[in-house]
Amino acid sequence: MKFIKVKTYEELSKIAADIIADQIKEKPDCILGLATGSTPIGTYKELIKKNKNGELDFSHVTSFNLDEYIGLDGEHDQSYRYFMNNQLFNHVNIDKSKTSVPSGCTDDPEKEGAEYDKRIAEAGGIDLQLLGIGNNGHIGFNEPDSYFTGPTHLVKLEPSTIEANARFFETIDDVPKQAITMGMASIMQAKKILLVASGKGKKEITEKAVYGNIDPKVPASILQVHHDVTVIYSEE
Ligand code: GLP
Repeated sequence: MKFIKVKTYEELSKIAADIIADQIKEKPDCILGLATGSTPIGTYKELIKKNKNGELDFSHVTSFNLDEYIGLDGEHDQSYRYFMNNQLFNHVNIDKSKTSVPSGCTDDPEKEGAEYDKRIAEAGGIDLQLLGIGNNGHIGFNEPDSYFTGPTHLVKLEPSTIEANARFFETIDDVPKQAITMGMASIMQAKKILLVASGKGKKEITEKAVYGNIDPKVPASILQVHHDVTVIYSEE
């Protein structure tokens, strides 16, 4: 595991965007695993700059997002589909039909999850997976548990996650209580993984994930057994 510590959020965003840009340049039709949350926003801004100045072409890229809230459709301004359109897809020349976010409006999350995993596998698997980390160590929406879950699946969000994400909703009661998330299998099968974490509040949990025991109570700790992980942490 490569652990890069930088001072500013701007540095973090630039380094992360360079890593993603290198992946796209090396394999223009690569499969990217993408993440939401506030941390990757700066990375997406840098990628947009690179696309606008002609340095980076997204036209052959396929993407799969990690997760979605149950009950929110893509038009809802707090859905992760909406976030991705707004923060990245609407501003680069990606073909939106090649972008996927699990559906939060499914009656059958198990079937949706199995189909999502099948589509990732059929596309050839993820070349580079971008991750953030939750305050409790979650990746995607894989909450602390007594075991690591493999497939894309339905999760009940922890009270601490609902509280952390309430800042984006009008009231805490508006935060969905469940989500559908890529499980550890698709994440761990990614050829490369890039995790971004920023701010003092994420320091302890990021260090625990990188240096602590591999423990499903700290979901990100499973990344220690992956062969190609870069973690970028900025103090700011
Ligand atoms: C959400 C997402 C995660 C993300 C986390 C941290 O819970 N499901 O994928 O990593 O938020 O978000 P932030 O970067 O805003 O701290």
